[in-house]
Amino acid sequence: MGNEATIHNGAAWKDTNGEPVRAHGGWMLQQDGYFYWFGEDRTEGRKVSCYRSSDLCHWENRGAVLTLDSKVRPVYYRTSLELYPPETSDIGYGQGAVIERPKVLYNERTGKYVMWMHWENGRNYNDARCAVATCDTIDGEYVYHGSFNPIGHMSRDCTVFQDDDGTAYFISAARDNADLLVYRLSDDYLSIDELVKTLWPGQYREAPAVMKRSGVYFLVTSACTGWLPNQGAYAYSDSLTGRWSQLLPFGDSTTYDTQPAFIVPIQSQGGKTEYLYAGDRWDPSSYHHSSYVFLPLSFPSDNEVKVEWADRITIDLHTGLIQPEVRESGLHRIKSCGSERYLAVMQPKGEDAGVIGNVLAYLSEEQKWIVEPCREDGYVRLRSKEDGRCLAVPLSPTGEPQSEAQLRLVQEEETRYSVEWILEDADAEGKVRIRSRATGKVLSAGLGEGGNRAAAFVHITDEAEHDPRNGRDPQRFEVLKVY
Ligand code: GAL
Repeated sequence: MGNEATIHNGAAWKDTNGEPVRAHGGWMLQQDGYFYWFGEDRTEGRKVSCYRSSDLCHWENRGAVLTLDSKVRPVYYRTSLELYPPETSDIGYGQGAVIERPKVLYNERTGKYVMWMHWENGRNYNDARCAVATCDTIDGEYVYHGSFNPIGHMSRDCTVFQDDDGTAYFISAARDNADLLVYRLSDDYLSIDELVKTLWPGQYREAPAVMKRSGVYFLVTSACTGWLPNQGAYAYSDSLTGRWSQLLPFGDSTTYDTQPAFIVPIQSQGGKTEYLYAGDRWDPSSYHHSSYVFLPLSFPSDNEVKVEWADRITIDLHTGLIQPEVRESGLHRIKSCGSERYLAVMQPKGEDAGVIGNVLAYLSEEQKWIVEPCREDGYVRLRSKEDGRCLAVPLSPTGEPQSEAQLRLVQEEETRYSVEWILEDADAEGKVRIRSRATGKVLSAGLGEGGNRAAAFVHITDEAEHDPRNGRDPQRFEVLKVY
C-alpha cells in the first residue's frame, strides 16, 4: 500500500469487507504503524467495534471489542456490572445497555488498554453514567468493569485526554449537560482521582474533544441539540485545569453537518505532526446511516484553531502533507430555526406536491434545494432538487395573491412572481426571512399541536408572529450549503 490515501467525506464509509464502518462517537489511537478506530456499534449485541488502517482510508474490521457477552469483572471501587437492564431498547437500536462515545488510552504503568465510555439503560438518558473496560491488547476482547456516576455526578458525552507526563483526564457533561467536568484519573486510569475543573457552567456543551499543540490545549465541543448538527466551538488554555478562554466559533453554523468525535494527531514518517478533526455526521432519522467526516485542522496562531470544509482530503503519511479538495454541489438545505426542521417536498412528483418541515435526513433528496437567481434584483427561485419544480405561493386565476396561501410546487413557466422569493438578512448570524415577491408574506414554520416537532409544517404568514420573547422563532431560516 502506498503512502498516499484519499478520504471522501460525507460518503458511506465501507470497511475492507464492503460492510459499513460502525464506529460512531469514536476514538483513534496510533500504534505500530496502524491507526485503531474504536466506536459505537449498535448492531445485535455489539457495543464497541474496532477497525484498523495503515493509511486512514482502508479500514479492516478487527471485530467487536465490547459486546453484551464480554467478560465482566468488578474493580476495586463500586460499579454496577449490569449490561442487560430490564425493558431496554427505546433508545438502544438493539438489546441491552446503550454505550456511547468509547475512548481508549494505553496505561504505561499497568500495560493495559483502558476504555472509558458513556452508559445508559437503553430506555432513556436518565442514569447518565460512565463505564470502564480494559484489555491486554489494543484490539482484543475487553473485560467490562461496570458503570457508575463519577463522584455522584451525571456523566453523558465524554472524552479522555492523556497529557505528556502520562496523567490522564476524563471529561464529561454533567448536571443535565449544563456543565462540562474535568476529572483527573488514578495512575492506573481505572478510577476517578479528583474533580479538577468545571468548564463553562450552564453553557450546555457536548461532544468534547481535546488536543494539545505547542503547549496549548484546545477543547472542541458542540452545543446541545441531540443528533442535529449545530455551531461548534473551541476554547484554548495553557493549563488543562486552569483558566480557559471563552468559547470561539469552530466551523460554520452546523460545523459542516458534524458533531465532534475526536481529534487525532498524525505523526508522519517525515516527523511532522498534523491534527485531524473527526466528526460524526449523525443521521437523526436513521442512526445506521450516520457517517463520518475527517478534516485537517490549521492554526493561524498558537491560540487559534481553524477547520474548513473539504469534500476530499488526500493524506501523505510520509511527508505529512494533507491536501483538501472542495467541490460546490450547488445544493442547499433550508432549516427552520424555530422547529429545527428542514423544508422538504412532500409526495415528490405528485400532482399536489406540497412543502413540509421534516426531520433532517442526509440521504433525502426531498430536502435539497437549488437557490437560483431570477434577475438582477436579488430575487431567487427555490427549486427542488428532487422534483425540479419551484416553491411557489398560489395566485388566483387573475394573478392576484390568494389570501389563504398554501405553499405549492410549480413549473416556473406557469407563473411569474409567485415563484420569486427574497432572502432577507434578519440578523448577524445569517438567519433570514424568506419573503414572497407576489404576496410580501414570509415563510413560517409552525410546530404541531402542543409544540409537537414531529408535526411541524411550513406555510406563509405575515411576519408579525415572530417574537423571540415567547420562545418562538417561526420565521427565521438558515440556508445551508449541502456538503
Ligand atoms: C447527542 C450526543 C450523542 C448522543 C445523542 C443522542 O447530543 O452527543 O452522543 O447521545 O445526543 O440523542
